[in-house]
Amino acid sequence: MIPYKHEPFTDFSKEENNIAYLEALKKVEGYLGEEYPLIIGGERITTNEQIISYNPANKEEVIGSVSKASKELAEKAMQIADETFHTWKKVKPEIRADVLFKAAAIIRRRKHEISALLTKEAGKPWNEADADTAEAIDFLEYYGRQMLRLKDGQPVESRPGEFNRYDYIPLGVGVVISPWNFPFAIMAGTTVAAVVTGNTVLLKPASTTPVVAYKFVEILEEAGLPAGVVNYIPGSGAEVGDYLVDHPKTRFISFTGSRDVGLRINERASKLNDGQIWLKRVIAEMGGKDTIVVDKEADLELAAQSIVKSAFGFSGQKCSACSRAVIVEDVYDEVITRVEELTKGLTVGDPTDLSNFTGPVIDAAAFEKITSYIEIGKEEGRIVAGGTADNSKGFFVNPTVIVDVTPEARVMKEEIFGPVVAIAKAKDFDEALAIANNTEYGLTGAVITKNRMNQEKAREDFHVGNLYFNRGCTGAIVGYQPFGGFNMSGTDSKAGGPDYLQLHMQAKTTSETL
Ligand code: NAD
Ligand code: ALA
Repeated sequence: MIPYKHEPFTDFSKEENNIAYLEALKKVEGYLGEEYPLIIGGERITTNEQIISYNPANKEEVIGSVSKASKELAEKAMQIADETFHTWKKVKPEIRADVLFKAAAIIRRRKHEISALLTKEAGKPWNEADADTAEAIDFLEYYGRQMLRLKDGQPVESRPGEFNRYDYIPLGVGVVISPWNFPFAIMAGTTVAAVVTGNTVLLKPASTTPVVAYKFVEILEEAGLPAGVVNYIPGSGAEVGDYLVDHPKTRFISFTGSRDVGLRINERASKLNDGQIWLKRVIAEMGGKDTIVVDKEADLELAAQSIVKSAFGFSGQKCSACSRAVIVEDVYDEVITRVEELTKGLTVGDPTDLSNFTGPVIDAAAFEKITSYIEIGKEEGRIVAGGTADNSKGFFVNPTVIVDVTPEARVMKEEIFGPVVAIAKAKDFDEALAIANNTEYGLTGAVITKNRMNQEKAREDFHVGNLYFNRGCTGAIVGYQPFGGFNMSGTDSKAGGPDYLQLHMQAKTTSETL
C-alpha cells in the first residue's frame, strides 16, 4: 500500500492546466439544466416536486433540477438502508476500503470536471474548487487506509489462561447531512467515513448544491459500491431532515452545518421514539467565529496577507474563515492599513474567469444576511474597504473590512459567513488572546508572532480545535491537520484525523477462557 500523501493542488499558471480547466467548464456547461432523480436502493426515482440548483454568479442559469424526497420516500430509503446494512456489514473491511480507493481514482481522472461543476454550482473560484475536489480525494484515500489500520481492532491485555480481543463493529443506518460550502469534500468525506466502517447511509445534501452530490453517488456506484449502501435523498431539511433525525431506525447522524440546525438535531436525536432501542450518536460540526491574533513582534506583511486570504477566500464562506482579527495596539495602524490596501486590490466577479479572486455568495438569503451585517458594521465600527454589494446578476458582495470595533460588537461575535472581517485593537498579547476567546465558538484560530513565549501561551490558552502559527486559519489538510472545533463549533470529531472512523463504530470486547 502506498503511504497516504495529500492530493497536490493544481498550478493554474501552467498553460496545460489552464486549458484543461476551460475544457472542463465547457463539458459542465454541456450538461447544465439536466434532471437528476433520487437514488434509493439503486433505483432512480423522479418526483414531481423538484429542487432547482442555480448558478449563484448568474441567477438565470440552472445547474440542474433534482428530485425532492418526501417523507414517504425517506421512509422507503430507510427501509432499504436498514436491509442493506445486514449484508454490507459482513463485507470485509478490505473490500469496503477498495471501493474508496477506486472512487478516488475515478475522481482523480475527472478532477477538473468535478471542480468546474463546483465553480458553476457553488460559485467557487478555480483554486478553491480544485482544493475542494482534492480534499474529497484525500478523505477517500485517508479513510480507506485508516479502516485497514482498524480492521483487526486494538490490542488489549490478556491474563494467563485468557484471550481478550477488542474489535470494532459498525453501528447501523447513518443519516449524513451536509452543507453547501464544501459541497464535494465534506459531503463525500462524511459519507465514506460511514460507509467504509460498514454502515449504510441516507445522504441528504444541501439544497443549493445537490448536483455535485449526485455525481458523487454515481462515482461510488462505478467504484463498485452495492445498491442501497448510499441512498441519495435531497429534500427539505425541516421535512425530511427532521423525519430522519427522529426515525427510530436511525443509529447515528453525521451533520455538518450551522449552529442552530446542529443544536436542533442534537436535541431531537436525544429523544427516544417508539421502537428505538439505542441512544443515537450525533456527530455535529458547526459554525465558527475564527480569529487571527497579531502580536507586536510579528511579520506584519505576513499578518496582513494571512488576514486577507483567510477572510476573503471563497468569499469568507468557510467555517474556518477569519471573520475577526485582533491586533496589538503597537502595530494596529500599520496592519490595518496594509489589510485595507490588499483588500482593495481584490477582484470580485464570475468565478469561471480565473482572474477573479473571488466569486458570489451562495444565494439570496446569504446575500441579505451578509449585507445586513455590513449595515450593523457601519454602526459598530469604521468600514475601510468594501461595504458594497450587487445582486443584479448574481449574489456579489465586495470584501469588507470593519475596523475599530469593540470586542462585544455583534460583528465580532456572530457568524456572518461572508466576505466580512471585523478588526479590534488589544493593548497587549494577553488581552488579544482574551478577546479571541470571547466567543461561544472555538473552531480555528491563528497567531502571527515571533515571540516564542507568546506562541506557547497561545498553544495552551487559545481555545480552538485548530490553531495555526504564522499562517492563515483556513486550509486544513486531511491527515495532516485533523479538523473540528470546540464549544458551539461542534463535537470536535476531527474529520481527517486518526480518531474519526471510530465515531462510526462501536467497540466490542470478547473474552475467551483458554
Ligand atoms: P445549514 O445548517 O443551513 O444546513 C446544513 C444542512 O442541514 C443542509 O443539508 C440543510 O438542508 C440541512 N438542514 C436544515 N435544517 C435541517 C433540519 N431541521 N434537520 C436536518 N437537517 C437540516 O448550514 P449551511 O448553510 O449549509 O452551511 C453553512 C454552515 O455550516 C456555517 O455555519 C458553517 O460554519 C458550517 N460549517 C461547519 C463546518 C465544520 O466542519 N465545522 C464545515 C462547513 C460548514
Ligand atoms: N477544512 C476547511 C478549512 O480548513 C474548512 O478551511
